[in-house]
Amino acid sequence: MTNDAQPRTQWLGRWGFVLAATGSAVGLGNIWKFPYITGEYGGGAFVLVYLACILAVGVPVMMTEIAFGRRGRGSPIDAIRRVAGEAGASPVWSLLGWMAMLCGFMILSFYVVVAGWSFAYLWKMLSGGLAGSSVDEMAAIFGANNESPLNLGFWSTLVTVATMAIVGKGVQAGIEKSVSWMMPGMVVMLAILIGYGAFSGGFGEALRFLFTFDAGSLSSEGMLAALGHAFFTLSLASGAILTYGSYLPGRASIARTTLSVAVADTVVALMAGLAIFPVIFANGMEPASGPGLIFMSLPLAFQAMPLGTLFGILFFVMLSMAALTSSISMVEATVSWLTDNKGISRRTASWGTGIVLWLISTLAMLSFNLGAEWTLAGKHFFDWLDYLTSRWMMPLGGLGMVLLAGFVLKNQAFREELGLSPAWHALWLFMVRYVSPLGILMIFVDALGIAKLQFGSHWPWLLLVLGVITVVGELASPRLKRAFDA
Ligand code: PFF
Repeated sequence: MTNDAQPRTQWLGRWGFVLAATGSAVGLGNIWKFPYITGEYGGGAFVLVYLACILAVGVPVMMTEIAFGRRGRGSPIDAIRRVAGEAGASPVWSLLGWMAMLCGFMILSFYVVVAGWSFAYLWKMLSGGLAGSSVDEMAAIFGANNESPLNLGFWSTLVTVATMAIVGKGVQAGIEKSVSWMMPGMVVMLAILIGYGAFSGGFGEALRFLFTFDAGSLSSEGMLAALGHAFFTLSLASGAILTYGSYLPGRASIARTTLSVAVADTVVALMAGLAIFPVIFANGMEPASGPGLIFMSLPLAFQAMPLGTLFGILFFVMLSMAALTSSISMVEATVSWLTDNKGISRRTASWGTGIVLWLISTLAMLSFNLGAEWTLAGKHFFDWLDYLTSRWMMPLGGLGMVLLAGFVLKNQAFREELGLSPAWHALWLFMVRYVSPLGILMIFVDALGIAKLQFGSHWPWLLLVLGVITVVGELASPRLKRAFDA
């Protein structure tokens, strides 16, 4: 059944939302982006900050977003406007919804290019194009794949068409079915690759690289990247989770679903790191090789394994599927807004969105060939889309939503939606009021060069102490008590 005529259809099965949200969260971010940015930002310290961001910012923001979606039963713009309106707050808050929708769209514009790499590598595996290649040849193959706009454009267009076709049909049946076998499949594939890595000679070095905390190796750029990636990997502040939340049945527990999604997402990312870095170190490759990292390293591992071609094919099938279950979630907000507000069918909305998407993603795709010279401040269009969304738009959108939920809106609405015990609710409120905003602000302040957040210096601690004093003061104040009781 499509949700053509009834935009607020709910998920079909009990696991519908968890599967769809996990499908959205687990994607290229876990397997392509996490390893390559970990490599670029020096390993362990980055991983630690990333995990802290997931826990302190990602989980509370995700709960808040789902609550907004379910309460407002609409696209991010409509849902936020409704929930704000219910509490007598200004409709201007719906700008957060606009930014989220734009953000999802911008991410998809470069995401389809990377998903296109995955499809292209699947084809190379199938046709034997990677067999017997050396480390250097792998790099050359990655380069050659990007050089022709026709080749690269073909694959990203294919992804765009596939995405819009699925969204056009309505997401439930498509995602609910595919994710339920794809996710376990992905975990098994990664486990096999980790098993291979354990004997490759690079495993010890990989473990050290991923899990040794060396505070000195972390720049403020790296912290901003870790925060941005926590948002990216959980699909936050991009409309996806909020819109999926708008189809969530009233009885489902938001906290429990959020935890399942966050844990699954984190496990897959760490598994990807453990699968990829041993190969990198055993073959003397550079961890900071950038976006091509997995495409240059994993095929090497496959070709050295028994039944490697078969595993390679399976792996790229899984990766392409993981990319698709994420990409459909990025446009769901736009398509749902169009069908709800413009009186057009889901199909028309999807293909219309697809055409605009195709134009912008083509520009992103050209960053790798014809447009190699078109840079602004040293970044290509592709890099700008990634940079603006991950580093700025998502954290800002998340900040806006937690502040709105924590301070502006009535506590009662979130009490009803979250349905937590008083103690857990107090913890959630504490997180969205103080911990998440303070975390986001600290990283922004540092990245903007306003103050330096060095682990050796005192000011982060000062901020923390100030934060704690504020919180204790407020917990003791009748105002917060009233808010809790409201
Ligand atoms: N979470 C996806 C990934 O890790 O690949 C990326 C993503 C999906 C970002 C959906 C934003 C979004 F709305």
